[in-house]
Amino acid sequence: LRLVLMGPPGAGKGTQAPKIKEAYNVCHLATGDMLRDEVKRGTDLGKEAKKIMDQGGLVSDEIVIGMIKSQLETNPECSLGFILDGFPRNVSQAEKLDGMLTERKQPVEHAVQLLVDDNLLVSRITGRLIHPASGRSYHKEFAPPKKAMTDDVTGEPLIQRSDDTAETLHKRLRTYHEQTGPVAEYYKKKGIWTGVDAAQAPKTVWANLSKIFAEHG
Ligand code: AP5
Ligand code: ZN
Repeated sequence: LRLVLMGPPGAGKGTQAPKIKEAYNVCHLATGDMLRDEVKRGTDLGKEAKKIMDQGGLVSDEIVIGMIKSQLETNPECSLGFILDGFPRNVSQAEKLDGMLTERKQPVEHAVQLLVDDNLLVSRITGRLIHPASGRSYHKEFAPPKKAMTDDVTGEPLIQRSDDTAETLHKRLRTYHEQTGPVAEYYKKKGIWTGVDAAQAPKTVWANLSKIFAEHG
């Protein structure tokens, strides 16, 4: 399975990707998670990226393309395929990705866009909790951890993302509609785009995703 998973902030990309990863034995490459890891480690790249992320903008194409390329080339989990979560985010990234994958004769098979109305996303984003090391996400109301503010798997503390404020969400949504909207058009033209109603419960969304992958092989 070679999948581009698209959707606005809070659509459920990070919630659905681990299920897909487990079912199809593919790698889950999330550029947002990789960038947050750089921020946490305090690297120069991380310092630069944090400013942009907290403003709801896009980090440079060069940086994110480099991250994806190196993972696709070296991560053994990617040998049976991949889920790209949060990448590509503009048409230039989509074209560069195509170039990279054509060389490897492994083109994208599905571009699935999780569709949710902007007004549903505020509560999802402001209530989200994450486990920084794994990228696992929870929700104070919709998907609470077993013990308050604690990761179910490791017992480590959960935190809120610094870009998960109503104000930054507004900017992230604007960036999404302006820059990532055209990426959906790009994949529609290639005939590999499918939209999925992501306002449904996570289980329903997962059922609909698995149907798409099963139908198209
Ligand atoms: P990134 O980390 O990719 O953030 P995003 O795209 O804004 O998406 P989110 O992670 O916020 O949402 P999600 O869809 O994963 O939602 P989740 O499943 O967690 O990027 C962050 C930043 O990094 C960008 O703004 C940019 O600056 C930079 N960046 C990243 N990639 C880049 C690139 N390629 N180029 C340039 N810059 C890049 O769910 C959200 C919450 O809702 C959770 O609490 C969850 O429990 C809950 N939830 C999920 N599904 C449901 C449901 N069906 N019903 C109810 N609640 C639900
Ligand atoms: Zn995410």
